[in-house]
Amino acid sequence: MKPGGDGRLGDRQLLRVVFSAEAIRRRVEELGRAIGEAYAPGDDILVLGLLKGSFIFIADLVRQVPIPIQVDFLAASSYGKERVSSGDVRLVYNPEASMKGRHVILVEDIVDSGTTIKRVVPLLLEREPASFEICTLLHKRLAELEWAVRWVGFDAPGDFLVGYGLDFAEDFRHLPYIGSI
Ligand code: IMP
Ligand code: MG
Repeated sequence: MKPGGDGRLGDRQLLRVVFSAEAIRRRVEELGRAIGEAYAPGDDILVLGLLKGSFIFIADLVRQVPIPIQVDFLAASSYGKERVSSGDVRLVYNPEASMKGRHVILVEDIVDSGTTIKRVVPLLLEREPASFEICTLLHKRLAELEWAVRWVGFDAPGDFLVGYGLDFAEDFRHLPYIGSI
């Protein structure tokens, strides 16, 4: 990685595009449709976005779900300024919404080591949802998880990915595509 004079990577010169904005758009449309088909009419559905990384994904995704849903967020953070997960997941866990008896879909930006999922899911299950599913835009397929990830946008390479919500030390979240640094 070669930082520029301002200490940042130049957006387009040094990032390799891994998933283009157009590829993401098409895939998010498919995911939205698949989620819509998975539930029965009248199901009370809560889509729960894991911040901050999922903020763009969830905004695009919920607009492609063709059935009534509600949306809320929770926040966890595990990386700090490192590109390797510290395993120390800080949880800012405060979804306002009730989950009891509702169909909850947890939306992640990327499943890497799986530490975040392993920390967050038991806390959500304690709240007794009627059903619980996980949807992630990207999956590195490294983690052994005891919960199936029902909807996966893309299998991700092992590289460190940024853009479309994903950051490196808070940079690059705004990029409309996903690149590797
Ligand atoms: P895990 O806990 O190791 O599965 O990592 C989950 C969280 O770490 C994700 O929600 C991301 O915020 C962050 N993360 C993991 N891999 C990457 C990456 O390649 N780029 C940016 N963030 C990542
Ligand atoms: Mg994240």
